[in-house]
Amino acid sequence: MRGYGVDMSVRSILVIHGPNLNLLGTREPDIYGTSTIDDHLRSVRGRVGESVEVSSFQSNSEAEVVGAVQGASGRYDAIIINAGALTHYSWALHDALRSYGGVAIEVHLSNPAAREGFRHMSVLSGAVDGTISGFGGTGYALAAEAALRVGERP
Ligand code: DQA
Repeated sequence: MRGYGVDMSVRSILVIHGPNLNLLGTREPDIYGTSTIDDHLRSVRGRVGESVEVSSFQSNSEAEVVGAVQGASGRYDAIIINAGALTHYSWALHDALRSYGGVAIEVHLSNPAAREGFRHMSVLSGAVDGTISGFGGTGYALAAEAALRVGERP
């Protein structure tokens, strides 16, 4: 996480998805909708325009997600991350996000705070610049907007 208030413009974004999010489109559509990762990437790209590079990474492995965050430092100006269930227990991912030098935005399709108790705690929220939850796929466009505006916050 980088923190707000420092002038910078975001020119590159890595969108990271954790476990089971490869199944988006067919996984519990009543909760997560029917859009796929590619659909969500399209809304990020649509929001930021062609001058901003947008890349994507998904893994079901905690180690690989940690590796993706480590690899993003110095390479991507911002991360948009939906870590899936890692959100609720991965202190390794928390530590990786704390070390990341760019803007980090946590996204959830659902509103975990309104679901089962084990989802109420995000161990990532204290290691990112901000969190967007509960707005379905719109959350990705909102996260992209936040990434673009991060240097503007008074
Ligand atoms: C999720 C919420 C998590 O609790 C869950 O484990 C997911 C998806 C969301 O996008 O709403 O895999 O991150």
